Amino acid sequence: MTDLVATYYFRPKEGVDPKWAANAIAEEQTTGTWTSISTGTKYMQYLDGRVESLEKEGSGYICEVSYPADIFETGNIPQYLSVVAGNLFGLSKIAAVRLLDIDIPKLLVPFHGPRFGIEGIREIIGTTQSGRPHVGTIIKPKVGLNPKDTAEVAYQAAIGGVDLIKDDETLTNQPFCLMEDRIPRVMERLDQVADDTGRTVLYAVNISTSGDRIAERAEQAVELGANMVMVDAIVCGLDAVRVVAEDTRNRVPIHVHRTMHGAITRNREHGIAMRPYCRFIRMLGGDQLHTGTVSGKMDHDANELIKDNMALTETFYGLKDTFPVASGGLHPGGVWSELQTLGTDLVLQAGGGIHGHPRGTAAGAMAMRQAVDAFMEDIPLEVYAQTHEELQIALATWGRS
Ligand code: 3PG
Repeated sequence: MTDLVATYYFRPKEGVDPKWAANAIAEEQTTGTWTSISTGTKYMQYLDGRVESLEKEGSGYICEVSYPADIFETGNIPQYLSVVAGNLFGLSKIAAVRLLDIDIPKLLVPFHGPRFGIEGIREIIGTTQSGRPHVGTIIKPKVGLNPKDTAEVAYQAAIGGVDLIKDDETLTNQPFCLMEDRIPRVMERLDQVADDTGRTVLYAVNISTSGDRIAERAEQAVELGANMVMVDAIVCGLDAVRVVAEDTRNRVPIHVHRTMHGAITRNREHGIAMRPYCRFIRMLGGDQLHTGTVSGKMDHDANELIKDNMALTETFYGLKDTFPVASGGLHPGGVWSELQTLGTDLVLQAGGGIHGHPRGTAAGAMAMRQAVDAFMEDIPLEVYAQTHEELQIALATWGRS
């Protein structure tokens, strides 16, 4: 296969021929425009997009459009996006259009993918044998803590049993919590946890910033002791993940947050589904990616989510896989449904669901781990909770979801 094949859902406006609409997408994104032109040559035809299939789906249609590999500048992600997800969204005769998926040929994947992947991160944490899901937390409140208090919250979560601590998406390097102060303080407390328990806990430092500074910021974070970095990939631009992943000075896993995705992915008829993002972020080198929860606070479609996570883990040109992260409104009472639906190669991340525990952060982390243990031992949550107080309190507080 040398063409990139993109699958779209679209709904033409009343009276518009669906075949015309599908062709309009293929033409607008390749060699055509709204009218015939005198500047085209016969050579241009090898760059034409082609409609490969068109089928009715609900109140609209699904079509596959193939784009010849030659239309792409190999390795240029902004340009890839302009072709498969560019002007087409604004065509006035098409009421709604959504990019559902992409099938990308090997020659357009000159990327190394994740440096660590699920296996590499499991090795760091020590869960290769058990295969248990990882538990993470987002420091809460998302902004407002100073470096000392951030480190204390991190310590409490780590001593309670989380495998991963992360900054939230809006915390970067503001004066009230500068990286140069925050990172050494957090890492010092995590080192203490390692000395006391033998467990390594990752700290994903949010290095999101402008494109010309992100590599330098990643390096700064690692020099300050960070053992993981985090990129807000949609607001930074997807290519930021590649920039950080390919920087040889950065030898830590990359956690990818998708803040702002809801503006693009949420509408089932218009925009871009999560699936293409999963494929792009994996090939660009994201080691972990937020894809959603089945029990949490964010809108989701469980069937889409299952396939999104598969896109991160299925065989793909020999690249390592990306660890799916379930995050957003998660608490111990939701752990069972997450694992039952999404499997155990999953990072379960809870902010409010840990720091909101009536007995505090450490107890909240313990409750999350107990919920995981209950699932792994196949003991119903309520039964397990009878002998595990922290879980019992969490279930009494938030119930099951
Ligand atoms: C995230 O980064 O996914 C959110 O900040 C999750 O926070 P919550 O667990 O409190 O909803």
